[in-house]
Amino acid sequence: MPRVKYGSVVRGLVILGLFCLWLQIMLSASTNIYRDAEIKVYDNNENLSIEVVSDNTELKEELMNANETSEQVLRLVPPELHKYLTVHAKNASGNITEKSGVKNITDIRRAILKDNDAQTIYNEDLFGPVQNDTLIIAIQVHTRLTYLRHLIVSLAQARDIDKTLLVFSHDYYDEEINALVKSIDFTKVMQIFYPYSIQTHPHEFPGMDPNDCPRDAKYDVAIQQRCNNAKHPDLHGHYREAKYTQTKHHWWWKANRIFNQLQCTSGHTGMVLFLEEDHYVAEDFIYMLNLLRTTADKTCPYCEILSLGTYLKTYQYHVNGDKRKKQLTLSYIQQVKAANEERRRRQESQTWNFQVYPNLYSSIQKVEITPWHSSMHNMGFAFNRTVWNTIMELRDLFCNYDDYNWDYSLLRLSQNRPGKEKFRVIMCKGPRVFHIGECGIHHKKSNCNASTVISKVQKLLRNAKPYMYPSKVTATISAGGAKSNKKLVKGNGGWGDLRDRELCIHMTKIGRERRATNMSHLVDFL
Ligand SMILES: *[C@@H]1O[C@H](CO)[C@@H](O)[C@H](O)[C@H]1NC(C)=O
Ligand SMILES: *[C@@H]1O[C@H](CO)[C@@H](O)[C@H](O)[C@H]1NC(C)=O
Ligand SMILES: *[C@@H]1O[C@H](CO)[C@@H](O)[C@H](O)[C@H]1NC(C)=O
Ligand SMILES: *[C@@H]1O[C@H](CO)[C@@H](O)[C@H](O)[C@H]1NC(C)=O
Ligand SMILES: *[C@@H]1O[C@H](CO)[C@@H](O)[C@H](O)[C@H]1NC(C)=O
Ligand SMILES: *[C@@H]1O[C@H](CO)[C@@H](O)[C@H](O)[C@H]1NC(C)=O
Ligand SMILES: *[C@@H]1O[C@H](CO)[C@@H](O)[C@H](O)[C@H]1NC(C)=O
Ligand SMILES: *[C@@H]1O[C@H](CO)[C@@H](O)[C@H](O)[C@H]1NC(C)=O
Repeated sequence: MPRVKYGSVVRGLVILGLFCLWLQIMLSASTNIYRDAEIKVYDNNENLSIEVVSDNTELKEELMNANETSEQVLRLVPPELHKYLTVHAKNASGNITEKSGVKNITDIRRAILKDNDAQTIYNEDLFGPVQNDTLIIAIQVHTRLTYLRHLIVSLAQARDIDKTLLVFSHDYYDEEINALVKSIDFTKVMQIFYPYSIQTHPHEFPGMDPNDCPRDAKYDVAIQQRCNNAKHPDLHGHYREAKYTQTKHHWWWKANRIFNQLQCTSGHTGMVLFLEEDHYVAEDFIYMLNLLRTTADKTCPYCEILSLGTYLKTYQYHVNGDKRKKQLTLSYIQQVKAANEERRRRQESQTWNFQVYPNLYSSIQKVEITPWHSSMHNMGFAFNRTVWNTIMELRDLFCNYDDYNWDYSLLRLSQNRPGKEKFRVIMCKGPRVFHIGECGIHHKKSNCNASTVISKVQKLLRNAKPYMYPSKVTATISAGGAKSNKKLVKGNGGWGDLRDRELCIHMTKIGRERRATNMSHLVDFL
């Protein structure tokens, strides 16, 4: 019967179309928020349906430690610093589990407690104790070891680095990362370990508990099934995803740990500078930070935040954040379209041309005073305890805001300070911090591997060398664009679960600890 045939042809075409869509999704996996997801196509004779199944089961962590440092890059690194870039061959013989130094989770938890307890400061004997005005450089580290190596090389070449304390804050315990950090010999170094990581809690909160509601569970079904926290999806109706919450938790824990808990900071009044593993600093960044401080004291005493630079490319702000936000409200087909559009846009604009930047370095260096904005000023920024105390007063705003981005949460806080203006930032327009990890792990094939980006930054900095260490700067005051002044209303979501909010608040309640005291409260909480 022709009608039936016609029907099955149409169905065939639809299936083919869906298959093409599926292919496209797979191909664009690198830019798609569902890159860990499985797409299922059902054909149950009458109805065709597609389901995107988020793969929340196990977070596969892979240490990013490629031996891809090119000759080009090495040529611009002093030979004595090559040791930080050398990847040692893994011991191939023997089983993975039997390899010496690989710990199971019990061992890792124990090691973390012990190390956090000890609060060991390496090289204190060589460079003197931490003073109240010592610059503390806090570096948030996950698993991108290749980038971390280059950050360390850039720090090693900075003037006055030997007067600072580097605090590496880890949410992933790995012997190779730890060995690299401990090998630093050019200044004082401390390692702190985020104790609530997914690595150490793979099957329980703050990791993914087997009884947690799946991200896309419907509210009614969740309530019926009584999965954990069924009553508290986020503002988009989605349930918690452990891996999205970890970064905000870690950032907050690290700041609390440094300002409120370490023994060596009990009288600290200096600045804390926030960096991440995939940043790269210019050799005069400490000098510039001090210059920003003295400029602020004279012209802008109300500037509470100092910033060493902004992003090279604006289109990649919050690759996960904004996209996630946008796509959550779209239908499935719209999501696919959006992902493809995004991919095309990025391929077009992805030339990694840093050439514009030397214009920003000139004999008269400019700084800008403007309202602090999360996505523009979250890189290489610093503030002191006075400012931290004002953040502490409003901890609930940070912890209860339904947004899994720490910087948007801070912006939310900034915009809602009773009786106070929002944070002002004083920022140098010629950046002293670069985001070398910006093009990410997923662009191996393009001209965007670590070596390429790093050699570009190296060359840029070499060209800018005559303009480093400026004796003075000129400040311009700007009201900031519409984007900076837009009042946040709704968050990006991902922070609806009460357990996340409680853990966040809990972190602020831990008092200062003497070196090697009993840390049993950490065990008690979880
Ligand atoms: C097709 O979808 C309708 C409405 O969602 C549903 O009632 C029906 O049972 C489905 N048919 C099959 C075969 O699943
Ligand atoms: C990495 O590269 C260095 C220098 O090219 C080489 O000596 C070393 O053996 C390499 N390591 C691995 C694991 O391939
Ligand atoms: C490699 O592992 C084997 C067995 O675990 C050990 O005997 C050997 O000493 C290791 N070699 C190196 C270079 O660590
Ligand atoms: C690796 O471990 C498995 C199970 O523990 C064992 O059967 C196997 O012989 C080991 N292989 C080597 C090379 O040690
Ligand atoms: C972890 O490894 C240690 C030895 O390194 C062993 O004593 C312990 O039983 C192991 N724990 C688990 C849970 O496997
Ligand atoms: C640091 O500040 C604390 C508290 O203000 C003070 O007691 C301590 O003496 C100061 N330390 C130094 C080395 O100045
Ligand atoms: C900390 O920063 C604030 C705001 O920028 C500033 O007013 C204050 O003097 C600074 N405190 C110290 C001890 O330097
Ligand atoms: C990185 O990209 C450059 C060219 O852009 C290429 O020469 C080099 O081989 C690439 N390295 C790796 C490890 O892919």
